[in-house]
Amino acid sequence: MCGIIGYAGPKNIESILLVGLERLSYRGYDSSGIAIISDGELSYWKKTGKIRELEKMLRNLSIKGSIGIGHTRWATHGEPNEMNAHPHLGPNKKVAIVHNGIIENFSVLKEELIKNGHIFRSDTDTEIVAHLIESYMDLGLVQAVESATTHLKGSYAIAAIAEAEPDKIVVCRHGSPLIIGLGKGENLVSSDINAILPHTKQIVLLEDDELAVITPSKVTYKIINGKAITKKSQHIRWDALTQEKSGYETFMLKEIFEQPNVIRQLISKMVVADKQIKLKHIKLGQKDLASITRIIIQACGTSWHAGLYTKYLMENYARILTEVDISSEFRYRQMLTHGNDVVLALSQSGETADTLACLREAKSKYFKVLALVNVKGSSIDRESDGVMYSYAGQEVGVASTKNYVAQLVAMYLFSLHMGRIKKLISPQELAEKISEIKRIPDHIEHILAQTDKIKAIAKKYANSQEFLFIGRGVNYPSALEGALKLKEISYIHATGYPAGELKHGPIALIDSKLPVVCIAPKTHTYEKMLSNIQEVRSRKGRTIIVASESDTELPKYADDLITIPDVSEDLTPILVAVPLQILAYEIATQLGCDVDQPRNLAKSVTVE
Ligand code: G6P
Repeated sequence: MCGIIGYAGPKNIESILLVGLERLSYRGYDSSGIAIISDGELSYWKKTGKIRELEKMLRNLSIKGSIGIGHTRWATHGEPNEMNAHPHLGPNKKVAIVHNGIIENFSVLKEELIKNGHIFRSDTDTEIVAHLIESYMDLGLVQAVESATTHLKGSYAIAAIAEAEPDKIVVCRHGSPLIIGLGKGENLVSSDINAILPHTKQIVLLEDDELAVITPSKVTYKIINGKAITKKSQHIRWDALTQEKSGYETFMLKEIFEQPNVIRQLISKMVVADKQIKLKHIKLGQKDLASITRIIIQACGTSWHAGLYTKYLMENYARILTEVDISSEFRYRQMLTHGNDVVLALSQSGETADTLACLREAKSKYFKVLALVNVKGSSIDRESDGVMYSYAGQEVGVASTKNYVAQLVAMYLFSLHMGRIKKLISPQELAEKISEIKRIPDHIEHILAQTDKIKAIAKKYANSQEFLFIGRGVNYPSALEGALKLKEISYIHATGYPAGELKHGPIALIDSKLPVVCIAPKTHTYEKMLSNIQEVRSRKGRTIIVASESDTELPKYADDLITIPDVSEDLTPILVAVPLQILAYEIATQLGCDVDQPRNLAKSVTVE
C-alpha cells in the first residue's frame, strides 16, 4: 500500500511533496513523512495521522532543497505511529528511503542484521531495506540499492536518497508501481500518474526490475543489477484530476450527488443513437465476443459486489456462464480453463494488488483479460487486453459510491451488448432497455430529493450496535453493498445476507433491537421477500424497508420506509444503492466519523 512521491528540481520542494502526498492519500493516510537533502545534509520529518498533520508540523519551517522524497502510509508491519512512518533511515542516518509493498522475508533479514549489530528504530519491513542500502554505500547509491534488492523477497517500489550523493533519487520497482514524470529542469517520481500530472504530462512507466536515477536535469534507466536501457516516454492526454468539494461538506456527499451526471455521461459514452452500445476500447471483435463461453469476474470490495450483479445480467441476457470471484481467493486457486474463457477485472482504481495479480496470473495462463476501470492509465487499464471505463470521474471518498453505480450501469450495458451480439436480444428490445436506462439519472435525482427523510431515519438508528441487510436475486449484492457502506464509514457492524438464507443462521440475531434493512422493490422474488419480512417482524426486528413507490403492501410492515421509483427488475440495484449510501452517510456523520477517510481503510489497496 502507501504512496510514494519524489522530486528533483528547483521549485518549493516542501509544497510539491505535500501536494503530491495529498493526491496519493487514497493509498493510505495513517501517517506520512518527507526527507530532503539540503546543503548536502539529509533531514526528515514524520507525523502520525492525516497529511494535514504533517503539513501543520512543517508550516513554520522554511525547508529548502532540490532533492526530496515523501510517503503516505497504510500500516502493514508495525502500528501507525511516528516511529513506523516513512521515510526510514539507515543506522547512521545517511540514507533515507520510502517504500511501497511488502518485504516478505523481512524477519529473517532483520534477525541476520541484528546478529551483525544493527539496531532498529521501527517495526517495519522497510527499515531493513534502508539498513541494507546504507551498508552497501561504499559502492555508490545505485549499486547499494541494487545490492540491497538481491536480499529482498516480496514486492517493492523504493525511492532512496543519500547524503553522499545529494543530487539524485534512485528508484526501483518489483511488483509495485512507479511512474517517472519528465519536466523542464525538474523530474518527479510517484506511485500514481495523477500525482505527477500537475507538473508534467510527459511520463515514463517503470517496469518490474527496472531502476531509474533521477536528477533535476535528467533521468537514466537500467535493469536492476543489469545493463543500462533507454525508455520511451509517453504524453498523457488527460488533465490532472481536481479534488474540490464544491460546497459539499465531504467528498463522499459530493460524489453521491454527482451520480445522476455520472450516469448521463457514462450512457453518452457507451450508447450510440439510442439504439446501439459501443465499446471503444475493448479490442475484441464481435466474433471474439460472441465466442466467449465463460466469464470469470475478478474484483475486491465494492467492485466485487458490482461483479455479483453482473453475473445475473450476463447469464440472463447473454446466456454466458459467469463466475464471480474475490481476487485474493481466485489467485491462489487452480485457474482451470476450458473453451473460450475470459477474465473480467472490475476495479475503480485499477491498482488493487490482488485484482492486478489475478489479471497477470490469468494472462500467463493464456486467458484473455478484459477490465472495467475508472482510473485511466492505471496498471489494470494498461495491462488488460481490452478495457471499458466507468467514467465516474475522480472518486476521493474512500467508500465507493458513484463508481459503484457507474459500474452497475456499465455492466448492464455490456451484458445487453453481449446479448445483442449473440442475437438473444432484438434491436427493438435493446432500444427499449436503452430508453429505460436513460431515465435512471432522473430517478436518482428523485431519490436524492429524499435525503432529509433518510437523514431522519438515520438519526433514529444511529446508536444501534449492528444492522442486518437482506435482499434477493439482483438485490442480494445490494444487501452486501449496503452493509459494507455502513460498516466502512460508521464502524457499526453490519452484515448483508441473501434473504432466503435468513433462516439458516442470521435469524438467530433478530430481536427488538436489531434494525433489518429489507431491500424489496418489485422483482420476481418480491413475494418471497414479503415472507422474509414477515419472519423478521414476527421476531420483533425493526424493519427499514426499501420498496418500489407503487407498492401499497409493504408500507404496512415497515417501521421505516424508503421508496425508489418503479423500474424493471434488473435496474433496481442501481436505484437501491443510492438511499443505502445516504443512510450509511447520515448514520456515520451523526456519529462524528470521518466519512471521507475512515479509520484503517485506504481507497486503493496496493498490497496483498
Ligand atoms: C478498497 C476500497 C473499496 C474498494 C476496494 C476495491 O477496499 O476502500 O472502496 O471497493 O478497495 O478497489 P478497486 O479500486 O479495485 O475497485
